[in-house]
Amino acid sequence: MHTKEDILKALEQVQDPEIHKSIVELGMVKNLEVIEDKVTFTLNLTTIKCTLKQSMAKNAEEILKKIGIKSVVINFAEMTQKEKEAIGMGGPHVLPKGEIKNIIAIGSGKGGVGKSTVVTNLAIALVKQGQKVGVLDADVLGPNIPVMFNTNQHPVGDDKYIIPIEKYGVKIISIGVLTQGTNEPIVWRGPMISNAIQQLYTMTKWGELDFLLIDLPPGTSDAMLTVGQSLPLNYGLVVTMPAKVSTDDATRFYKTFEKLEVPVMGIIENMSFFKAPDTGTVYPIFGEGGGTIMAKNMNAPLLAQIPIDQKVSSCGNEQAPVVIADPTSFAAEHFMKLAKEIIQK
Ligand SMILES: Nc1ncnc2c1ncn2[C@@H]1O[C@H](COP(=O)(O)OP(=O)(O)OP(=O)(O)O)[C@@H](O)[C@H]1O
Ligand SMILES: [Mg+2]
Repeated sequence: MHTKEDILKALEQVQDPEIHKSIVELGMVKNLEVIEDKVTFTLNLTTIKCTLKQSMAKNAEEILKKIGIKSVVINFAEMTQKEKEAIGMGGPHVLPKGEIKNIIAIGSGKGGVGKSTVVTNLAIALVKQGQKVGVLDADVLGPNIPVMFNTNQHPVGDDKYIIPIEKYGVKIISIGVLTQGTNEPIVWRGPMISNAIQQLYTMTKWGELDFLLIDLPPGTSDAMLTVGQSLPLNYGLVVTMPAKVSTDDATRFYKTFEKLEVPVMGIIENMSFFKAPDTGTVYPIFGEGGGTIMAKNMNAPLLAQIPIDQKVSSCGNEQAPVVIADPTSFAAEHFMKLAKEIIQK
């Protein structure tokens, strides 16, 4: 004859693989019933979407069978916010959204695939289509947004708020506009990066916005986790190049968005091909099809395939972004189409 105490003692051997503590200690065993050699209980999870719940349940079942239990029934439930907080899994506080309608974070697995370029041209393309747009540069260690927007304005503010600078109709805030002129490297640890991003977001007087685009640094970084967990994101966008090395990293990055429960709006393939302006011949400089394959594998839309264009790369070299400098160009058309698609979504 087993008592509840016997069962709990046995279940102490089962650990939550992420928190590394016993499920009993974490208070995850609820509604325990023992009737002769039959045991029923509820496994109270930190998230019902926990991908490891089946393996925890299997582990528990095996342990109970070893002590002579014949039948084990385990139900799943999710902890209340209070219960999560009690074991330090309350999650970071999600900041308020204010008057911003849509917040979209743009990231990639690899560096240099064109996130900042996409953010800049997409923001301006959205403005051209009548939207109120802001850009938050979350790449606090390597802020490129001021250069991309070809600006050296300083924001004004008081001890409470920063008024974002405005260029081409876009409201912009970046560590780069706050530290301008110094060009000193910023050497910060994770918590400082997280604080800086949260402060840039909360202290900026954004006013009413249809879209706030967030330019992420490459890969899964402290910045990305902060943005994904503590900013009230509506969507993520993943930028990739067509080559397999880039799509592999982008796929990993995509999955991080999923883990953070940020819905991914779609994939943007950048530097997809080069179309010779004289002959019109198309050259797939960085390979072909990566974005299409990735979109299929992830079951997400491929929102754009942006060509390689010298007019795009001139942006950041004291020239206006292509959607301003050459609005009828092939590349600018692609950015305008992308903006249209995003507005529709
Ligand atoms: N479609 C394009 N055609 C030509 N050049 C491009 C295109 N997209 C981006 N570039 C150029 O590629 C370089 C990298 O782009 P960008 O800085 O936007 O990438 P990133 O992903 O933001 O990089 P990081 O990971 O360092 O933040 C820049 O010099 C940019 O001008
Ligand atoms: Mg960048």
